[in-house]
Amino acid sequence: MVVWTDFERATIQDVFSKIDSEAIGHQALSRCLVVYPWTQRYFAKFGNLYNAAAITGNAKVAAHGLTVLRGLEKAAKNLDSIKTTLADLSVLHSETLHVDPDNFKLLADCITIVIAASLGTCFTAEVQAVLQKFLAVVVSALGKQYH
Ligand code: HEM
Repeated sequence: MVVWTDFERATIQDVFSKIDSEAIGHQALSRCLVVYPWTQRYFAKFGNLYNAAAITGNAKVAAHGLTVLRGLEKAAKNLDSIKTTLADLSVLHSETLHVDPDNFKLLADCITIVIAASLGTCFTAEVQAVLQKFLAVVVSALGKQYH
């Protein structure tokens, strides 16, 4: 079981209270699709992802970015049971969507970059370390059904 200090718990809640999930989700998913183009193959039904402008202007990318952030918010509210909280999502990504689990870390890194840019000077080394731990636990939970 993952152990969270009071500081880590408070920091995670603080980060999610400060960010605009719609903007962060949209920017992070767009960035992932642009920087790692092979991730586009999972989103064929989103239509035109031909170039960076098409990706960022795609309403389905924006909507799905928010969906991803809602998943993270759920994990943040259930820090002591992230693995069970995300178990269904892990099954979906592995058995139905067949997403290569290496991609979870890539999207998580895009999320970190976009949150860092959004928080500015509030994104201290301590906050970065806590966010990295949180996202690593989420990535591990999402990959659980693959093992
Ligand atoms: C669907 C979260 C990473 C591909 C979803 C859903 C959530 C979610 C909440 C909606 C599930 C539902 O409808 O019940 C996350 C989180 C991730 C992550 C928190 C990591 C931080 C990825 C990655 C890919 C991916 C890296 C592919 C590169 C998909 C696809 C769908 C989906 C294709 C279905 C979209 C649709 O049918 O509209 N994800 N996801 N996910 N995810 Fe992920």
